[in-house]
This record gives sequence, C-alpha cells and structure tokens, in this order.
Amino acid sequence: MASTMHLALVLALFTGQAISVNNGLARTPQMGWNNWNALGCDVSESLLLDTSKKLVDSGLRDVGYNYVVLDDCWSDGRDEDGFLKDDLEKFPSGMAAVADEIHRQGLLFGMYSSAGEMTCARYEGSLDWEDNDAKSFANWGVDYLKYDNCYHMGRFGTPKISFDRYKVMWDAINGTGRPMLYSLCNWGEDYTHTWGMSIANSWRMSGDIYDSFTRPDDLCSCTDPSNPLCVAPGSHSWRMNDLDMLEVGNGGMTDEEYKAHFSMWAALKSPLLMGNDLRTLSASALTILNNPAVIAVSQDPEGRSVARVRREVNAAKDKYGVGEIQVWSGSLYGGDQVVILLNAAGEDAHISASLEEIFLHDGPEGSAPQVNGDWEVYDLWANRMDNKLAQKILDAPVDKLERLFKEANWYNSTEVSYKDGLKRSDPRLLGKNVDKISAGGSFSAKVKRHSAEMYRLRSVGNGGKRKVHAKEEL
Ligand code: GLA
Repeated sequence: MASTMHLALVLALFTGQAISVNNGLARTPQMGWNNWNALGCDVSESLLLDTSKKLVDSGLRDVGYNYVVLDDCWSDGRDEDGFLKDDLEKFPSGMAAVADEIHRQGLLFGMYSSAGEMTCARYEGSLDWEDNDAKSFANWGVDYLKYDNCYHMGRFGTPKISFDRYKVMWDAINGTGRPMLYSLCNWGEDYTHTWGMSIANSWRMSGDIYDSFTRPDDLCSCTDPSNPLCVAPGSHSWRMNDLDMLEVGNGGMTDEEYKAHFSMWAALKSPLLMGNDLRTLSASALTILNNPAVIAVSQDPEGRSVARVRREVNAAKDKYGVGEIQVWSGSLYGGDQVVILLNAAGEDAHISASLEEIFLHDGPEGSAPQVNGDWEVYDLWANRMDNKLAQKILDAPVDKLERLFKEANWYNSTEVSYKDGLKRSDPRLLGKNVDKISAGGSFSAKVKRHSAEMYRLRSVGNGGKRKVHAKEEL
C-alpha cells in the first residue's frame, strides 16, 4: 500500500513537470472577462465596449484582467467563400473595429468557436473550416480563441481522436502567424489533462459551472475512475486546468462562498475569467476580484497547482447533504507555500493543518525538510479592500480615479508584474502576518461554514534564509 501510494505521488509530481505549448502566451493563468455566465447569448458591440471601459475604470485591467472574451452567438453564417460572417446587427462596426477599440483600451480580444459542425448555441462551427476561421480571427485582430466541443460529429471517444480534432485548429492558428491564446473547452472529455498542454494554453476540466456552492454535477472532475459517475477523472497537474469562468458577483452565492470559489480558482491555477456583468459591478464583488494577495498566488511564477492533502467527508452536513472539509497546499515562488482551509460543511469549524500535511508532496510522513523549519503565516484575505472605498471608486468620475487608486494603494501589475512584486516582497502581495508555526508544529483557524481561509506560509527558519531557486528565471 505504502509503495503504491509513493508511486502515485512520484507520478503525480512527474506529470506535474509537463511543459505546455510555447507560444509565449499564458505563462501564468490568463485573466480577463467572458460574457457567457452572466449574459449568455445577449452579446453586442456595446456590451464589449462598455465592459472594456469598466475594466479600465474599475482598476481591474491594471490588477491583471486584460482579456475581453466574446463567447457564443456572435456570427451570421458563412459567406460564399466559406468565411464566417460577424452579425452586423449585434456588431454594427464589424469585429475588426471592435478589436481595435478593445486594443486601444490596453486590453486583448478573445473570441469563441466550436470544434464541431455548430457551436453549442447552434451557430456555425469551425470543424473542417479551421484554416478559414483562423484566418478570419487573425484578420480581425483576435488574441485568444476559446474552442468548444459541441456537435463534434462523433469525432470523440479516445484521447487521440479528440487530440487530432483540436490540433487542426492549433495548426491553423499557428499558420496565421498571429499569436493567439488557445483555450480548449472540451469539458475534460477524453482525458484532456493528459494532452491539452501539448497543443493549447489551457483546457477545460469539467462541464459548465453553475452559480451555486452546493449543486452536485456528474461532469465535475473526480478521482475515482471505477465510479461510473466519474466521467472525467481529474489529475494532480500543472497549469492550466480550466475550471470554467468565475461566478463571483452573479448573485447565486454568499460573499464567503464567492471568496472560497475565487481562492480555489487562484490556487488551482485555473484561468481567472470574470463571468459577471461588469456594468453592474458591486463593491463586494470588486473587493474579491481585485485582491492582489490572492491573485499573486494565481500568477505565481512557479505555476504549480495546489493539491488536496486532506479530505474529511464526515463533517457536519448542510441541508444539501454536503459536509466536506478539505485542506489544500502547494508550493509558491521563493519557497513559500499556499494553504487553503476549505469548510464546505454545514457548520463553522476549527480546522488545523500540520507542517507534515502541508508539505506532504515534498516528502511523506514528515520527511520533507520544510517540516523542520519555522514559518510565518500570512492571511491572504485579511487586507481585503474596504467595500466603502471600492464603492467610491465605482462611483467616481474618471478624473478622480487616479487619486482614489493611490488612496487604495492599488496594485498595478502593468507597472510591476506579480513576479517582480513577489521578488521585492511587496506587502500588498503577502497579506497580513497572523500566526507562526514552529518546526514540526501545526496551526489552526476558525473557518465559517461554506467558506475558505487562504494563507501564505513564509519560512523564518535557517537563520531567516529562504529557499533559493536553482533556476531563478522561470
Ligand atoms: C458550452 C461551454 C460554455 C459556453 C457555451 C456557449 O456549454 O462549455 O462555456 O461557451 O457552450 O454556448
């Protein structure tokens, strides 16, 4: 048993080294906005342009959200030469002009199609039209393609068949000479996590997200392939498993549930694509989405996903029958470690985590060298921006924004990248020092029901010397 376990760990770490495609894009998880979760097919030129402006004025662009992604329902058939037509009622200036305007705002433009006969909303798909469609995207100035899985004409069923179908578009994009982030959306089917990284920048792991903390979904990734409901077994992996667009701000969850959702997406290195209607952005959603200490975990230069180190399924169940407590942990730049205490149970709980558990993936049964060090614990949500200040920013006229961003001590990642900020130990990226763990010890915190606490551990042992990376430039 012990050796099987050990082998599994070694394999997990080994697959964790997979190198994703090198088109220079999404070296850290992409960030941005996508209309689908909040607005579905209700897309238009004004939606994209108003949203772009809001991204800038709310400071969200500068904190890192730089892709504006238009999802399904934008096209109007094909012309006689077989090229996709943009719907000129929805986009009267045409897609190229929309892209230009988005670029003028210092943002990048994403579009959507499907590796199928039709898109999921039954618009024209790109299967067998890949070269034409990639050319259109390139001509319009597109920087990102989300590529879906509907109406695939039966071309699925093994990893090879799906891989081949998705590779055609990857080759077509490369053939245009325009760099485009390639975001697969095949819901984890045919074990995408084993091949997605060789032809794409990110790959969806599961069926569509739902704005609810407790709704079970058979298409969620799972770890037990012998369970017939486990359609898409997930894996311990590197970047960028796409857990789908965020639901923060869409109203179906409490503030604590949204914080937990955002914390997990950041720590699992999922792309962070906001899925709310930014035109009606609330202060509480803004102060979740703009937390630089949490985003710094997402954008960490090591790019490693957290892994679950504990799962207690017998915790107090809530009225939906959910009762899980989980501890997640993962390594960060400079020898830091992120730890999430997730309480998905029906009652508040004290959750503790020992250094032995936290560093399980660096060595089993307490053998990891980090277990012998002392650590400082930084709470990554403690410095969440005050909602009143966020509201002031949302209400302010454009000429007052600069002063307010200063007052808010806003993290501007277009000036100092997260990597450089981490190198300089920028306090905005570190959160608040709340606790200390001595060698061999543990720490604990009260975690409200349906919420998560998120911490960065920093070594203070070994005379204050922190781990130095053999390869400084990641
Ligand atoms: C699928 C995708 C969603 C969205 C819709 C659009 O369901 O998984 O993210 O793109 O199609 O129709």
